Amino acid sequence: MNLVDIIIMGDLMIYLDNAATTFPKPESTYYYMNKYTRETAANPGRGSHSMAVESAEIIFETRELLAEFFNIEDSMNIVFTKNCTESLNIAIKGVLKKGDHVITTSMEHNSVLRPLSTMESRGVAMTIVQADEFGMINPKDIEKEIRKNTRMVVSTHVSNLTGTIMPIEEIGKICREKGVLFMVDSAQSAGLLEIDVKKQNIDILAFPGHKNLFGPMGIGGLYVSEDVEIDTFIEGGTGSMSSEIIQPDFMPDKLESGTPNLPGIAGLKGGLEFILETGRETIRKREDQLVKVFLETISSTWNIESYGPKDLKYRSGVVLVNIKDLDSSELASILDRKYSIAVRPGYHCAPLAHKTIGTYEKGAVRFSMSWFNTLKDIEQASQALIKIAEECGQEE
Ligand code: ALA
Repeated sequence: MNLVDIIIMGDLMIYLDNAATTFPKPESTYYYMNKYTRETAANPGRGSHSMAVESAEIIFETRELLAEFFNIEDSMNIVFTKNCTESLNIAIKGVLKKGDHVITTSMEHNSVLRPLSTMESRGVAMTIVQADEFGMINPKDIEKEIRKNTRMVVSTHVSNLTGTIMPIEEIGKICREKGVLFMVDSAQSAGLLEIDVKKQNIDILAFPGHKNLFGPMGIGGLYVSEDVEIDTFIEGGTGSMSSEIIQPDFMPDKLESGTPNLPGIAGLKGGLEFILETGRETIRKREDQLVKVFLETISSTWNIESYGPKDLKYRSGVVLVNIKDLDSSELASILDRKYSIAVRPGYHCAPLAHKTIGTYEKGAVRFSMSWFNTLKDIEQASQALIKIAEECGQEE
């Protein structure tokens, strides 16, 4: 298959795997990536020539835009990483110490559960608070688990499995009252839902660039409040204090070593500008509308099971389904091969979330929408799902 075939295939596919990565990206993302690969591609902060300065400028501008997005006072407290997983690892491993207690939820992605399990093996106690069958966490259940040595609560903002929106403002309030750090994994929400680190009392925020922020893959970020003590994850060149062999202790350099992903950061700026122009709430409304149509269309087919909150107010642009007696991988494969519809089956790197909603035995199929999906995509996808379900039903 050559490049032209791949591009044609991309055009023909109905892409409903936006929770894995949004596709396509806005034109502004491609524009900036191209510009900062072809025209201005010097190493930022490592030289004082004008090309290096121009590269440093776009990094500063992107940091500032992110600070505006999340209501972060000082953009220097945001560091660029390669993805949300790296951000989560930097924070979890850099903050927790032997003897600490940490609370998390059964709806977390493995990017939270695995580093936390590693910390458990290094002497950190962990409590996993159970969500209900719709994937919703009750903040009171978190409050009940807080101990004298609880250092941090780590919660996802939106489940990557069910799209359930967690009550992070209430959780943040509890954490502030109890003097516990609050860390939010915004993998599925950054760019789509309101995130205000002050209002929601978020001390640490991990976010990916390539999902609802419409940047490319390979770029993510981490906000760490200046009140949080955090160790370095890696050390190296920062372009600052170059005559010293000790890692700088100031942000962002403390947590940002080595040549940054300039095309990624520039592309992320394109994504942020697109959201600002379009309006975050306008994007959210469109996703809501698509989810509503999808759910209404499939609701009367007896052998389609769907999961997650019934009230759209508590869910993002995700519809998770199964067809009775059909394996989730088989369903995704039929959607791909027969209907050119891209979805994600299986376990979505969230095993405890599957256990929580009762789909651990066979997984489930996730349809995830974004701004560039149309009502026609949703009609075709829901009709394809109904047709497959009817065929399966007849075989009984
Ligand atoms: N975490 C991404 C997903 O849920 C990759 O698909």
